[in-house]
Amino acid sequence: MGKRIGLLTGGGDCPGLNAVIRAVVKSANHRGWEVLGFLYGFQGVVEEIEPVRLGPEQVRGILARGGTILGTSNKANPFAYPVRHGDTWRDEDLSDLAVARLRRLGIDALICIGGDGTLQIAHGLAKKGVPVVGCPKTIDNDLSETDVTFGFDTARETATDAVGKLTTTAESHDRVMILEVMGRNSGHIALHAAIAGGAHVALIPEIPYRIEPVVAKIRRRREQGQSYSIVVVAEGAYPVGGRQAVADPASAIPGRGVVRLGGAGKVAADLLRPLVQEHEIRVTVLGHLQRGGTPTAFDRILGSRFGCRAVELVEEGLFDHMVALHGSDVVAVPLERAAKTRLVDPNGELVRVARQLGIVFGDEEVDAV
Ligand code: F6P
Repeated sequence: MGKRIGLLTGGGDCPGLNAVIRAVVKSANHRGWEVLGFLYGFQGVVEEIEPVRLGPEQVRGILARGGTILGTSNKANPFAYPVRHGDTWRDEDLSDLAVARLRRLGIDALICIGGDGTLQIAHGLAKKGVPVVGCPKTIDNDLSETDVTFGFDTARETATDAVGKLTTTAESHDRVMILEVMGRNSGHIALHAAIAGGAHVALIPEIPYRIEPVVAKIRRRREQGQSYSIVVVAEGAYPVGGRQAVADPASAIPGRGVVRLGGAGKVAADLLRPLVQEHEIRVTVLGHLQRGGTPTAFDRILGSRFGCRAVELVEEGLFDHMVALHGSDVVAVPLERAAKTRLVDPNGELVRVARQLGIVFGDEEVDAV
């Protein structure tokens, strides 16, 4: 029998979302099913925004396009929905409204593409009886139940490219160039970009740093005739005894959702400046460039695989699960496990490789740098 699938993208966007949307639509249409796309994540469900009927016409030409044709929201949580009361906003549980809306629209299955927040909401709706399938995404690559998320490869490519570009200008001016990259509380983007780009220092949240080993690395390079250095700093990195740099103090108030990080590069620069006066220091914040642009072939393929597998889970009736990459297979994982974070393992292989390549993390003995 024909099915009606609801589809939405929640949380921050990332390259590859449109590849998933296209795959879901093509694979559902292939089975003779219809797809309704909700706009702006759960906002479109709760606020009764007219969903878009998605067919071949709507997904033509979107495979290589960044962003999401459905729009997204990182504030629209049906379980804690911001509702205006005069001049103030209060979070209210509108999940029953969302469930009722989905029932009224005759949605047989809801495919939710998102990060930990969206997947948690999806699990909450599943517990209320909504047939839900999740699809993990994030440039941060910090979700525990999948080996990798689509979006990460493109962000890593952008960050690696930035390291390369900073290297040529750093060399020309004998400068220390600091590149601040995204990743929230994880250092995957920073670590990968540092290795792939040939940076000299990587500061990541998983390894709180002291500035002395970083200074020692810069000095050592200078003594060896390399009078420039490239320091990649994850936005969540912080010095020992310090705390993460917050871009927007209002976001750090408890209950205001996700804390917006930013400024870790400047913190490192301010610590370095008095200690490496031989060099000028410049800070580049790569920011949302990491979230935009055309997805790499890897992200397009993984997004397409996730989208098709999500439709297969609907066909199999395997709800309250998300698709995930385990090794070379796309598998189904219970959604209740999905919201756990996967950080860089400070003793893992990639950190060991980086150390052997001479990359300094700021936790070394100065003499050993
Ligand atoms: O989770 C993805 C991410 O890009 C993080 O790396 C970053 O901290 C955050 O989202 C930025 O969020 P916003 O787009 O709301 O500024």
